[in-house]
Amino acid sequence: MAVLTDSMRERIRDLCTKYPQKQAVTLPALHMVQDEFRHVSLEAIKEIAALLELHPAEVHDTMSFYGFYRDEDHKLGKHRVWVCRSISCMLHGGEELLASLCEKYHVKPGETTADGKITLEFAECLGACEGAPCILVDDNCEMNMTTEKVSTLVSKM
Ligand code: FES
Repeated sequence: MAVLTDSMRERIRDLCTKYPQKQAVTLPALHMVQDEFRHVSLEAIKEIAALLELHPAEVHDTMSFYGFYRDEDHKLGKHRVWVCRSISCMLHGGEELLASLCEKYHVKPGETTADGKITLEFAECLGACEGAPCILVDDNCEMNMTTEKVSTLVSKM
């Protein structure tokens, strides 16, 4: 049974018309699948490869080059929370914030909470150093964070 939905296939085919080579759609296709399923399965890799006229190994190589993507054994939670650990955030308590969140949610960086609600990760500079320490919650950057502020954000998810 196919993993990619008809809508995904249509969007991937549509994206192919916007680039000189189908291979350029590999990353957007991987994003699309991961956003929907919270991981990219081997079957999804094969289906993306077929749509892009690539060997599945080419899609897998691209996927595994980036730490961003998750396979079937490391599925993401519903939300992804990145805690910046680069210099500005580190100097403003980013490392302590990450440690505190790990303790609060009983996870190590990269792991997902038991209820599947969040995956907690460390990030390098999020480009918002003036608001250190920063976190990224899915696509939203949040500045001047504390454990309490993150907890409030998570409780509203
Ligand atoms: S160092 Fe954290 S946002 Fe730049």
